[in-house]
Amino acid sequence: MCGIIGYIGKENATPLLFEGLRRESYRGYDSSGIVVFEEQATHYVRAVGKLEKLEEKFANNPFSGNIGVGHSRWATHGNVTEANAHPHADCKQNIFVVHNGIIENYAALKEKLEKKGHRFTSQTDTEVLPHLIEHFFKGNLEEAVQKTLQLVKGTYGLAVIAKEDPEKIVAARLSSPLVISVNSGGGFVASDPAALLSHSNKMIFLDDKEIAVVQSDNFRVTDMYNKPKEKEIVELEWTLEEAQKGGYPYFMLKEIIEQSESVKNSMRGRILTEEGRAKLGGLQQVEKQLRDIKRLNIIACGTSYHAGLVGEYMLEEYAGIPTDVDFASEFRYRKPIIDKETAFVFISQSGETADTLAALKEVKEKGGLTLGIVNVVGSSIARETDAGAYNHAGPEIGVASTKAFTSQLTVLSLLCLFLGRQRQMSLVMGQRIAKELARIPELIPQILSGADNIEKLAQKYRDARNFLYVGRKYNYPVALEGALKLKEISYIHAEGYGAGEMKHGPIALIDENFPTIALCPSDSVYEKMVSNIQEIKARNGKVIAIATEGNEDIRKIADDVIYIPKIFEMLTPILTTIPLQLFAYYIGVLKGNDVDKPRNLAKSVTVE
Ligand code: G6P
Repeated sequence: MCGIIGYIGKENATPLLFEGLRRESYRGYDSSGIVVFEEQATHYVRAVGKLEKLEEKFANNPFSGNIGVGHSRWATHGNVTEANAHPHADCKQNIFVVHNGIIENYAALKEKLEKKGHRFTSQTDTEVLPHLIEHFFKGNLEEAVQKTLQLVKGTYGLAVIAKEDPEKIVAARLSSPLVISVNSGGGFVASDPAALLSHSNKMIFLDDKEIAVVQSDNFRVTDMYNKPKEKEIVELEWTLEEAQKGGYPYFMLKEIIEQSESVKNSMRGRILTEEGRAKLGGLQQVEKQLRDIKRLNIIACGTSYHAGLVGEYMLEEYAGIPTDVDFASEFRYRKPIIDKETAFVFISQSGETADTLAALKEVKEKGGLTLGIVNVVGSSIARETDAGAYNHAGPEIGVASTKAFTSQLTVLSLLCLFLGRQRQMSLVMGQRIAKELARIPELIPQILSGADNIEKLAQKYRDARNFLYVGRKYNYPVALEGALKLKEISYIHAEGYGAGEMKHGPIALIDENFPTIALCPSDSVYEKMVSNIQEIKARNGKVIAIATEGNEDIRKIADDVIYIPKIFEMLTPILTTIPLQLFAYYIGVLKGNDVDKPRNLAKSVTVE
């Protein structure tokens, strides 16, 4: 999400920092900033919005210098404001930090630092870093950074410079990428190799808990306790575009593979396992109001609408709240009744979809309580809703939504826990859901490790001209989403159906050339799904079953099986979706389609 860049050397750092930020901008950001040291002077500028805004500010008051760091921020803690943009500084403006990731124990650290007299100027978690480094700083920056990181819980990729120790950039990594390169042009630090490729293709990738001291003509890497580490210099053979894709052929594949991480980011700090509750900071201000809500109405488009449908099952079964889900484009035209007992939940990856935004405005005009589940921080829907929960899934670049969907399901599960525990849900059930949810990031890699098998199935079925996707209950919306994915990127006609509705029409289509993907994890509707699969088999239809590991019986009925790990029923959609994304991806690629930019489709539909 956010981008880090740092430079030290003989060149003027400023244009190099701007270039690095621009090269990282494909990742998405909402504000940016740079700091450059020039002999006695410190040049510090930050701006909200596009990089051009930062460049405009710089152009009004240009500067140069031989060392600096820059950052493009995608907000997590704190609104999109200039004060929250990086770099962040200590009290004396001696130490400057750019940081990606989340400092989980920032609140406790901040309290202690404030008691010691440190003054904070932002709402970010990051700002504790420069103050803590200031606390330990005795003239040697890496020493102070080492001591700081020993106290910090969370994740980071970071770069630090100090006016009082100005011959180096100190960089460190824990679960957030950081790469360095020292070449004839000087020493560079970045969160993304794409930012450095124009200077050199020789890079050093930091591993977790490593700290690097980068100077204009050399570097040194140590562990957190100053013990030196040997590092390999990797020669990248990537083009710039390949580098942005992290070595994957398409953003879509990268984003599918990233889901363990993006789902983890969506739940980070939000699950209170012992209390069996969810903490959603963005709903705090309306927490009381939500207690009195009698109904929910979810409004969205496309994939986000499918997430809403899964949410309906969750919220009704476990939170006990009657829930309706509407296409934003239909909701607007059916003269909806907006009452005080209903909360309206708008789900949108981009936060800019025209129909969803228009529906939101209509509800607001009529005085309804509006909540958002939005990925892009600071987007229109995020700003216009009364309260909400961000996805924190990171930028999604592939047009067909993948990681945003699993993130939306994760946030909806958290919302269900949040509202459920305000109502009927027992402590024991709350704890169970919390525990199961927390397991999901570990389970996703198990599904991804079966990607080769899914690719083989894609080869086997690639010539089918139609597909049926069927599921029941929680996995009915997944059937809709699976069919949508296939349509979007392979251009094959696919229908998603509730398996129980098959007999009312679609079964007439089934023959040996019309394959069905049946979602049949071992859940409360499993037996019914088996009957539906038998009906398809009786008509010579081919069936690919998505089933729970250990279910050997299903092999006797289905032609092919893709297994998912066992998980609490309500959460199965987060797992069953992933094989369907991969299946669609591989068929799209086999057909030679540009799966990142399917024909006729747009990532963000800003027209009605
Ligand atoms: C477009 C995208 C879809 C997305 C839909 C809703 O059609 O191609 O992937 O699901 O818009 O977008 P939103 O940003 O509101 O989730």
